[in-house]
This record gives sequence, C-alpha cells and structure tokens, in this order.
Amino acid sequence: MKKHFLNTTDSYHRYGLSSLSWEVTLSVMLENPQSPCRSILRKSDSFGNLLFDYLCTVLPMDRIHHLVEIGGGYGHLMRDFLKRNNMLSATMIDLSPFLLSQQQETLQEHDVQFIQENFLEINDSVLSDIDLAILNEVIGDFPTACEIPRNTLFDYYEPVDTLLNEVRRIYNSYRIALPVADNFTLNLGAIQALEKLCAAQVPYIYISEHSCEARVPKELAGLLELAVAGDPECIRLKGHDEYTIRFTDLERVATFFGYSSRRGQYLDFVEPVIDQKVAFIMHLGPSRIDRYEIIQQFIEDLAKYEYLILSLPPEKLRS
Ligand SMILES: C[S@@+](CC[C@H](N)C(=O)[O-])C[C@H]1O[C@@H](n2cnc3c(N)ncnc32)[C@H](O)[C@@H]1O
Repeated sequence: MKKHFLNTTDSYHRYGLSSLSWEVTLSVMLENPQSPCRSILRKSDSFGNLLFDYLCTVLPMDRIHHLVEIGGGYGHLMRDFLKRNNMLSATMIDLSPFLLSQQQETLQEHDVQFIQENFLEINDSVLSDIDLAILNEVIGDFPTACEIPRNTLFDYYEPVDTLLNEVRRIYNSYRIALPVADNFTLNLGAIQALEKLCAAQVPYIYISEHSCEARVPKELAGLLELAVAGDPECIRLKGHDEYTIRFTDLERVATFFGYSSRRGQYLDFVEPVIDQKVAFIMHLGPSRIDRYEIIQQFIEDLAKYEYLILSLPPEKLRS
C-alpha cells in the first residue's frame, strides 16, 4: 500500500501567506533594537549586520558584486547587506506575492531586481552572474519526501513512481548514508535547490535552517537539552508543514560539486553573553514571564539552527 508522499508548501506561500508572525525567524526576532533577544548579545545588532560581519571574516567579500536572496521574507537581511556595501546589486526571488511586495518596500532605495517564482522552477540563466546566494530559513519550506520505503534504495527494487525514482537518483548520486528505519524522510527540495546553485557554479552559497542534527555546544552545556532526531522532523505551522534539515546530506552534495564547506550554528555569529542572569533564566524552565520565555526560545534557536557556507576553490571559479 502506498504511504509515501511529497510535502509541499507552494500553494500556502503563493495564496495563503499574509504575515510571518506565525513563524518568527531569527531575523525578525532581532529586528527591534529594544527586543529582549538583542539585550543579551555580545554585540546588539540586526541579524543582517551580524551575518555580514561574520561573512567578512570567512569569505572574500570584495569579490562579491551581485547577490541573490531566495525567500527573503521582509527584506531586512538584504537591506542590511546593501547598506553595508552600496556597490552591491541584488536579486530577490520569492514565491509569496505578499512578502515580495514587503521586500519591494523595504528595498526601494536600492538596486534590486524582484522575481516572484518558485526557486526550484526558475530558469538557471538567473544565476549565471551571481557571486553569492543567500538562503536564510527557507529550505525547510522546500518539498520534502516523506515515508519513503528503505527498499527503494536497493538494486533489487525497481521504483515505479517519479518521487521514488528521484529519491533513488539522489542517494545514488551523492552516496548519502543509508537510513536505518524502514521508512525515512529526505529534504528533497533543499537538495534539488543546492544542485541548481552548484550546477550554475555560484561561487559562494550561504544556507541556514532549523537542523535535525544540531547538538548542544559546550558553551551551553547544562543549560539546554536538544533531542537529535537524525531524520528530518515535521514542524506544523499555520497553513503548512515544514521539515527540519539534515545538513550532512547537503554537505555531500556540495562536496560532489567541488565546494568546500564551513558548517556551524547561529551561535558562531549571534553570540549571547551567558552571565549569571541568563544562566538563571535557562535553569528556570517554563516561565510565565514573557521576557524569560523569549530569551529561552532565542537561545535554543541559536543552537538548533545550523548554517553552511560553501565556496568554490579559485580554479573552479567562472572566468
Ligand atoms: C520562513 S520565511 C524566511 C524569511 C527570511 N529569510 C527570514 O529569515 O526572515 C521563508 C521565505 O521563503 C519564501 N519561500 C518559500 N518557499 C519558496 C520557494 N519555493 N521559492 C522561493 N521562495 C520561497 C517564503 O515566501 C518566505 O519569504
């Protein structure tokens, strides 16, 4: 009996989305300078500025002239990047007409092209002169292959449907570690999106999302517990389901295409100061005080969200 299916969020983003307040991203959390989240940071700043500072330490930012952001939400991250370097030009690709119009408003003073389309369906020519692609908290929205029977991956089993065939192609192409369970989940759209960027030889790629593999880092040991699921997990949100990401699979794809990768947690560039007060809040557990609850959730997110920064070696850069 067929149980497997492809989870998609396409129609929600095209027709249903009218606010991001149901799925507060780190970028949104840090937007207000007075937010409790900012008050515990080593450097109180917006998400875009903190990320820009970090990228300057790990990428040759002087070689980046044209960037694309896929799923840019309200456009805050790109606003910060363009303010930091007004020589940059940008392309924003988003499925949601509502969010694209918000981006147009936020970025009206800058040199930006806007495209309303599903990134997975976009013509590859759009990527031909891009130096840096940014995918911040979007790949969990891309299609996810769910309840895939493990048998699909073995030679003796001939898949007869397109979804199973595609999952098998991906496992065979990138030698992704075999699943243990009889049925498994694959971040299919996230992998296809990365294939698209790598095949277009975009020199630098930044991707972040809620991970299913993140562990408690040593600076938060004893303050936080994280269950490591291993398999992507479903997160139920207003009007759609999204899935956490198995970053190890993305690393395999990037390695196949010759990219080097740097992997880490948001904590690497959004650094909280864990003083006695913050440690107290973390030890407290569930609290009725809003400020405490916000800080607990924020610190947990800083650990749960992972990023990959991918770079092509100089000899593979487009001439
Ligand atoms: C959770 S929001 C993240 C927004 C922003 N990057 C941030 O960090 O605040 C996901 C964004 O991706 C867009 N999106 C979702 N699926 C997409 C797709 N297939 N192609 C392009 N954009 C997509 C949504 O419309 C939204 O702007």
